[in-house]
Amino acid sequence: MKKTVLQSSLVICIFGAFLLLSSCCSNKSASKTTVSPEVSEILPWLEAPSLKETYKDIFENIGVAVNYNELRSSDVLEGLEYHFSSVTMENEFKPQFMFNWQAPNTKGTFTSSKGVTITVPTNIPDFSRMDTILKVCKTFGLKLRGHVLVWHSQTEKSFFRENYKPTGAYVDKETMDARQEWYIKSILEHVKEWEEKNNDNQRIIYAWDVVNEAVSDGANANNYLRQNDSDWYKIYQNEDFIVNAFRYANKYAPSDVQLAYNDYNCAMGNKTAGILKVIDAIKATEDDDFLPGRIDVIGMQSHVDTMNPSTTSIDIAIRKFLEKGVDIHITELDVAGSPIGNEKMLRFRYKELFKTYAKYTKKDGGNGISGITLWGLNDERSWIAQKNGVTQCPLLFTHGNKGYMTKSAFYGAIEAAKEQ
Ligand code: GLA
Repeated sequence: MKKTVLQSSLVICIFGAFLLLSSCCSNKSASKTTVSPEVSEILPWLEAPSLKETYKDIFENIGVAVNYNELRSSDVLEGLEYHFSSVTMENEFKPQFMFNWQAPNTKGTFTSSKGVTITVPTNIPDFSRMDTILKVCKTFGLKLRGHVLVWHSQTEKSFFRENYKPTGAYVDKETMDARQEWYIKSILEHVKEWEEKNNDNQRIIYAWDVVNEAVSDGANANNYLRQNDSDWYKIYQNEDFIVNAFRYANKYAPSDVQLAYNDYNCAMGNKTAGILKVIDAIKATEDDDFLPGRIDVIGMQSHVDTMNPSTTSIDIAIRKFLEKGVDIHITELDVAGSPIGNEKMLRFRYKELFKTYAKYTKKDGGNGISGITLWGLNDERSWIAQKNGVTQCPLLFTHGNKGYMTKSAFYGAIEAAKEQ
């Protein structure tokens, strides 16, 4: 019974769509002015204005998250070169991927800056994909935001446990501190050597999210850190793992690599306050003689929806971070609450967001927003393509049988630059 109803609704829908289409086509041939201006702007992405050109005087980087397969597709690479200067690997530089899901062996040793000797694996990190990614980015003139060194999620459980056994007891703080230094050193030195050898010692990875999402949504005066689902917190019970990560990143990264703390819900008052505490704790180590820390950037993830957070609260958070003397990267921008048919709303939202960000362009050597990264190329592959059973259209491009096409929302972002 249900099936029959569904089938007939489908037939009605198809018929309706056919009528709509033929009326559009006949209107089009009768008079071009009857075509909605939004529809007429839907273009193959190489025929539309270039996003990065449009923003070249406002942001140092316009970026997008991609996955390994996208980065190896010639269609995608053409569009990346045309619209973007920077890419973020959606997954491939996360600890779990660098471990390549292999059980770590215990064949090597490492002595930390503090003189603690630990056993370390010799079979990981696995740099094979990272090297291919670096090579592709070099060939296509793309830079990379490194994402991510220290995170409670997508990190092997075994990394935190005795003998690297996923079921072992947690190691003590001293051991974990040395493991953290070993991991950060391994990644950053590998990239540095690759760039020295293959890119005249010029940066391809220009920034790293050193720590991701360590502040709690429920941050308060007594405790501002994520606790229950964080193995890092369970071992440390305080923010030392965050601060130390920035000391090690500063020690092993070239000085022109920007070091970022990245998080979501940055415009929520108590979360903003928690992130400000992170900045203070890292900055307090800047003049340390032994292992100085450094923080250059707050990464504001920006998984927003069409209504929230308001641009007023985003504005307040941006100003608070900038007052601390750091820059901002908008790192993971997409707009949920954007079901099909909500194009006008989405265009308006992208426009007001880009206008808000553009107000904080870097000027006269001061701090500002230096880059924006969209969290995905096209709606169909977005991590929120389906939310609560509803198909979402959270991004600026769509991909179908005509290839990559601009959406109305894309022009919201373009208009924002022109209205500066
Ligand atoms: C967080 C992480 C990203 C990604 C998204 C979901 O924001 O920082 O790497 O995993 O969640 O796609």
